[in-house]
Order: sequence, then structure tokens, then C-alpha cells
Amino acid sequence: MIAGILVLVVAVVSVIYYVKLRRWMTFAKDLPTVQPCYPLFGNALLFLGTSDEQRFDSITAAMSNPAKLFKLWLGAVPLICTNDPEMAQKILTHPQCMEKPYFYDLFKMQFGLFAAHYNVWKGQRKALNPSFNQKILNEFVPIFDRCARNLVGKLSQNPENEPVQVTHFMKLCTLEMVCGTTIGCDINKDPGAFKLAHLVTTILEYISRRFLNVFLHAEFIYQLQKDYKDEEAMRNEAYKYADKIFQDTLNRRTKQSGSITSSNQDDYRKPQIFIDQMLNLHDEKVLSDIEVIQNVYTMIAAGSDTSGMEMGLITQMLAMYPHLQEKVYAEIKEVFPVSSELNFSPENLRHLRYTEMFIKECLRLFPIGPIIVRKTMSDIELDGIKVPTGTVFAISIFNLHRRKDIWGPEAAEFDPENLAPERSEGRHPFAYLPFSGGNRNCIGNRYAIMSMKIMMVHLLINFQFESHFRLEDLRFKYDALLKLSKEPGILVKRRQKYFAK
Ligand code: HEM
Repeated sequence: MIAGILVLVVAVVSVIYYVKLRRWMTFAKDLPTVQPCYPLFGNALLFLGTSDEQRFDSITAAMSNPAKLFKLWLGAVPLICTNDPEMAQKILTHPQCMEKPYFYDLFKMQFGLFAAHYNVWKGQRKALNPSFNQKILNEFVPIFDRCARNLVGKLSQNPENEPVQVTHFMKLCTLEMVCGTTIGCDINKDPGAFKLAHLVTTILEYISRRFLNVFLHAEFIYQLQKDYKDEEAMRNEAYKYADKIFQDTLNRRTKQSGSITSSNQDDYRKPQIFIDQMLNLHDEKVLSDIEVIQNVYTMIAAGSDTSGMEMGLITQMLAMYPHLQEKVYAEIKEVFPVSSELNFSPENLRHLRYTEMFIKECLRLFPIGPIIVRKTMSDIELDGIKVPTGTVFAISIFNLHRRKDIWGPEAAEFDPENLAPERSEGRHPFAYLPFSGGNRNCIGNRYAIMSMKIMMVHLLINFQFESHFRLEDLRFKYDALLKLSKEPGILVKRRQKYFAK
């Protein structure tokens, strides 16, 4: 009897899958296929076996296909790929392409903005968008400033003549920022917050590893691995720390709400850290308990390593291009004269135009989210092709940002002028997507640029960076994020005391 039911289930699943596959094969039959493609494995061998660096190179080569749309087979699952700005725009702005495919379920964060399915995401995103408005970001400036000063203190402890791998310090700084603005904790003083943040980012590393190994995507296979047990243990530990932080936050809110008077109301409101804003939405019944908790994890995970790793690359570029480093420094001296004090304001941050171009050029050559994916929620028509429900699109931002027809023959070279307003005129709006595009883009994009600018100012008024490495020496690997496979050490030389006071 049981055997009969099993056979029936397998037969039904096979028929459904076959029908789906035939639809996929038919609609995509005229699209070029990435080569080499083998029966059963498809293009999955691109992701297996070779070293991290070779895998990065072969995926990048596969994604450089000149066709507007082309396909890649992950075993029996087809991915429809593009590196074309027009296609990227059509996909990322299509209301039926706001869904994330099944591999985001590996994050086990379906109630947090990043990995949430559309029906949960839609309301959350609408509710959380105001949390990142300019007024609130401006209130975070003192936190960014304090953390960047701590970064300088930590980097100063390294001997001047020994190369330093700076990314670790940058990541600590961005983690400190995101914990300050999300849960209001100083990770230097609160060991619980530090532990939680560390666990969240380590869990992300485990997920990235699993992400790349399609054979571990099936839960029952993953459960047989040691990684699964480690990941579960870390999740359980993280929940314990998170519980305490929430409890402390609730107690603080109860105390504060009892003592608000009109005179201290403004102080109470500043800065409006994310957990307070989320708990307000919780009070209004817009977010549930689990949504608040998972969005706290999401902000810590999405907001720390991303900016931290990008800052590591920015520092590499400063060190490799001394004349450009001096140009950024000259601008900083102009905006923050040595005779004054370092007071950040929205206006003076806006005046750091070249500094911003420098950051943005780093994001062009090294987009931390190198490939983004979306899934169709219903049948759609794209460029005259009928695309069925459940189709997964992969947009290679890394390849898009290095297209010679968009960025010129020197597209692979580092040149901040690429992002100058004059040179950007007439460029396709979706040719530059470090923060993705459309309604499901990075909610933290302005937060990231602002915090990185403040870090740059502190770094350059205190240090001069030197390196003998060249751009072509940098080798990358794919995780969930773009990473250097080996980070070159750079020299961190002290500058003379900058401010007169
Ligand atoms: C250099 C820094 C950053 C880069 C390059 C970056 C890039 C991205 C990209 C490409 C996405 C889209 C991912 C996808 O569709 O799969 C994304 C989403 C997201 N990012 Fe960022 N990010 C950065 C910093 C931040 C910061 C500082 C925060 C928060 C404080 C943040 C929070 C998020 C969240 C919550 C999402 C999910 C948005 C949604 O689905 O509605 N990111 N980010």
C-alpha cells in the first residue's frame, strides 16, 4: 500500500516537473546556452571542483555572453541570464518579478526583508522604507563618526612598516555602525551585542558556502553535514543573545515613555534607531514579533559585511592609485579646512563629490552583490518572449559594470571620472546597479554611501595608504558576496596631525 502511494507521488511529481520543464525548454529554446553544457549536469560543473579563483573566472566568462538573454542550466533547473541594462530594467521593475527564488530560503529568514517571499516582503518594505529616509540617516551621523574614530584608533596600533590586511578592521567598524543604528548597542562595550553580531555574520558565511554547492540545497542532504549542526547551534545561540537585547530594548522603551516631557522629547526621538522604529510598527500591529527579530538580524547581516568589504576594496584602490588618493585628500582638506573642527553635516558630506565618485567607481568594478536573481510570479512577456511562472532570472551586475560598449575600451580600469555627472549623461539608468534597481533594490544604499564617506574622511586625514600591488593582481571568488580570494596587505602610514585644534 505505502509503496503504491510512493510510486504514485513520484509519478505525479515527475509529470508535473516534466510539464514544467517542457514549458521552460520551449520558451527558452531559441536562447543561446552557456557552453559547455552536459546532459543531467547542465552547466553545474562551472560551480564545482576547480579552485575558488578559477570558478570565479569561469562563472564571469559564462555570464559575459553577448546575447541580451541567454540560459544556463543548474542541473535540470534553467536560469535565464542577462548582463544587458535594458533587460535588467525590464526584469527588476516588472511587478511580477519581485519574488526571490528558492535558494533565498537557505537563509531561513523568510520574515526578514532580504529573503522574504513577495507576500511578506511587500508590506514590510512599504513600512520600513521611511526608516531609511534622509532625516533619519542624518541623525545617524554622530554614530558613524564615533565608529570611524574607533577605526582610526585600531588601525593606528599597527606598525607603520608592516603591511596590514585592512578589511577585518573595516568590517569591525561597519558592524559597530550597524549595531549602533539597529539595536543601539556599542559592540566595544557590550559583549552580548558583539557576540550576536559575530554569530549573524558567521552564519552568513555558512549559508554562502551552501549557496554555491547545489548538491547541499536539499535540506535532507544538508542535515547530514557537520555544517548543518554548526549552523543550527549558532542560530540557537544567536536567539539567546537577541532575546536579551530585545528585553533590554523593551525595558528602556517602557522607562523612556514614562519620562518623556516636552523638553526632552526631541532628545528621545534622536536618533531613531531601527529597532525602535520596528517596535513602533509592532505596536501598530504592522510587524509581528518574528518580523521584528528577523529584520534585526537582516539589517546586521546585510549592512555590515557589505560596506565593510567594499571599504576594504576602497582602501586597496587608494593605496594602488596614490595620485587619486591625493585628489580625494585635497577635496577633504577643502571641505574640512584644517583650521576648523571635524563637524559632519548633510551639506559638507554632499560637497565630497570626488570622494563619492571614488566610492562609486569601486562599487562599479567591485559590486558586492555580483549576481542578483529574481523569480517570475506569473507568466509574463519579456522582449516578445512568453516567460512562464517560476522562471528564475540571473542578472550579472559584475559583467554589466564591465561592458566595453557602455563603459568604453578601458572598462576594466579604475577611473573615478567614469562616475562624473558629465560622463554619466545619456548612460542607461540600469547600466550601474551596485545596489540593484527597482522597488526591491538595496534599502540601505544611502546609508552605505554616507557611512563610507565618513570613514573615508577619517581614514585620509589620519593615514596615507601604500601598496605595490596592481589592479590586475587582485583575484576574486564568489560567495553570496563578491570577495577577494587573497587580500593583499597595504602599508598604513600616519599623516601629520591634521586639525589645528
Ligand atoms: C556597499 C554597501 C552595500 C551594497 C553594495 C549593497 C547591495 C545590495 C544589493 C545588490 C541588494 C539586492 C540583493 C538581491 O536582490 O538579492 C541589497 C539588498 C538589501 N540591502 Fe544592501 N547593500 C549595501 C549595504 C547595505 C546596508 C548598509 C544595509 C542596511 C543597513 C543594507 C540592507 C539591505 C536590505 C535589507 C536588502 C534587502 C532589500 C529588499 O529585498 O527589499 N544594505 N543590497
